Amino acid sequence: MADLDDIRDGDNFGLNTPADTSSFYLKGMNSASWGIKNRMSRIFNRKSGRTVMLAFDHGFLMGPTSGLERIDLNIAPLAEEADCLMGCRGMLRTSIPAENTKPICLRTDTGTTILTEMNHNVLISEIDAISMNVSAMAAMLAIGDADTEAITVANFSRLVDIGNKYSIPVMGVTAVGKDMARDSRYFGLASRVCAENGASIVKTYYTEGFENVVAACPVPVVIAGGKKLPELEALELCYNAIQCGASGVDMGRNVFQSEAPLAMMKAVKEVVHNGATPAEGFDLFNTISNEA
Ligand code: 5RP
Repeated sequence: MADLDDIRDGDNFGLNTPADTSSFYLKGMNSASWGIKNRMSRIFNRKSGRTVMLAFDHGFLMGPTSGLERIDLNIAPLAEEADCLMGCRGMLRTSIPAENTKPICLRTDTGTTILTEMNHNVLISEIDAISMNVSAMAAMLAIGDADTEAITVANFSRLVDIGNKYSIPVMGVTAVGKDMARDSRYFGLASRVCAENGASIVKTYYTEGFENVVAACPVPVVIAGGKKLPELEALELCYNAIQCGASGVDMGRNVFQSEAPLAMMKAVKEVVHNGATPAEGFDLFNTISNEA
């Protein structure tokens, strides 16, 4: 058992000293292979260094939730606006046209649904990921969940081994179990565990003190949107995360459950890539949704 008595919280995050990106535009990639850099370059915009990923992997946990009843109708029309599509193999194959040229981040772990507690997720075969020409693979880490932490970390390490073998970046998705804390200390720890285990991208949740979470994670951090918020608040979330150094978003419900998903995608992009304020993004959202 780790010695929990003398864990001192970090307090020197070097916030004024950016990570060295002199040899590649994304942090933490200096020693990555050509293939990993090439795939990361497909996902992260070269100019802004950021990404707007569209997450629609929710169905494997929760079935046809609102906004994802028909991926072919709800998500496929948004694909052109996304920098990367994050989904599960079944929905990608059946509902996203193969002509799609946007990079894919394949949700690679499976085994849990909302009908039970967090289960012992397993990985799908890398053969499928390679055959689908994916640009990244994602798996969840349930850090702090006594029953599943070890298996999800083991899964993740195996996925990184596979990713390194084939030069496919791996995104660590930090879980939010119902008993887990949701503060910068927890997300900072969980994000760092992803990076320590070889993640090329970390997906986590915005929280107060997020600048420390980002600073202590040596690879790009993107945020999930979480539960549907009013559009202005969701844009504030994106803005605040970017101000804290996040490299973008991997957002689902706040886009596909919006009354105007396409307008929301465009507004999020404006905030993430072009430095728009939440109010400017919201104006754009209203303008586009009123035109439709
Ligand atoms: C959780 C995920 C989901 O893709 C994530 O929740 C993103 O979606 P949202 O923005 O709706 O939170 O990876 O396992």
